[in-house]
Amino acid sequence: MIDSKNIIEVKDLRVHFGHGDDRVRAVDGISFSIAHGETLALVGESGSGKSISALSLTKLAPRQATYAGGQILFNNSNMLKLSDRELRKIRGSQISYIFQEPMVSFNPVFTIGWQIEEALKLHRKDLDRKAEIGRLLDLVHLPDRLAAAYPHQMSGGQLQRCMIAMALACSPELLVADEPTTALDVTVQREILNLLKELSEKVGLSTLMITHNLGIVSDLADRVCVMRKGRIVEEGATRQVLDDPQHKYTKHLMAAVPRLKPSAAKKTSPEEIDDEMKRWMPR
Ligand SMILES: Nc1ncnc2c1ncn2[C@@H]1O[C@H](COP(=O)(O)OP(=O)(O)OP(=O)(O)O)[C@@H](O)[C@H]1O
Ligand SMILES: [Mg+2]
Repeated sequence: MIDSKNIIEVKDLRVHFGHGDDRVRAVDGISFSIAHGETLALVGESGSGKSISALSLTKLAPRQATYAGGQILFNNSNMLKLSDRELRKIRGSQISYIFQEPMVSFNPVFTIGWQIEEALKLHRKDLDRKAEIGRLLDLVHLPDRLAAAYPHQMSGGQLQRCMIAMALACSPELLVADEPTTALDVTVQREILNLLKELSEKVGLSTLMITHNLGIVSDLADRVCVMRKGRIVEEGATRQVLDDPQHKYTKHLMAAVPRLKPSAAKKTSPEEIDDEMKRWMPR
């Protein structure tokens, strides 16, 4: 049974690619939970297993993946045991995804409105879809005339807003955002993050936020899990992990934060790094 305060519980999840000695343990026994209304950040270097963990929540990992063990409890079902039909019902309606590159998530030959309407048709047959498209675009601060636009007529930031509108189309309980701002320039990143923050408060979403960016973690996440080589090496409240990382790897990640002022190749003392991190990560 899932603890009633949690929306999802992942227990000892294992996802492998390949077999025998050559297999890649992309996810190697991770456990975490997300409480209702909570934002959990998953951080870690490239290849550490963040995306495969996120996709596995609804069994969307690439076809070659094997779910080698563990449980994913959502609404008291183990997602790993559900049929494809049951999973399809949950994907997009109860658990929605936003990915890094909005352009590839939209079909270039259909208008944005048409594509949002298709998402609505799948899961919400009951409602006035035109009005709902307007409401969703308004929620992400876009004028409803953009429903008639094609993806290539929009900026990256506008498209990411549309992607968020589409993800919210069926009032999901859990939003999974995998590097949602990495492909955008810095000012637009900030706008999208503010939007996500606003929505999580307004709509009461629970969110799994995957990011390389510790600044995003600091601003948005209630808790953070640090992943390395398919495992979670550190987990805790965001402030606690960022202010006082325990694991060597977390310390290493913090030290790898891009420096604010590019300087000559001068050795930086730990104290200097601390100072810079504090400036870089607003409280
Ligand atoms: N289709 C696949 N076939 C084989 N191995 C894969 C496949 N997809 C992912 N992997 C492996 O699984 C591991 C975890 O990959 P994953 O995409 O989850 O990393 P990530 O933490 O999301 O990295 P990034 O920050 O670069 O997005 C990596 O070692 C990767 O090589
Ligand atoms: Mg990834």
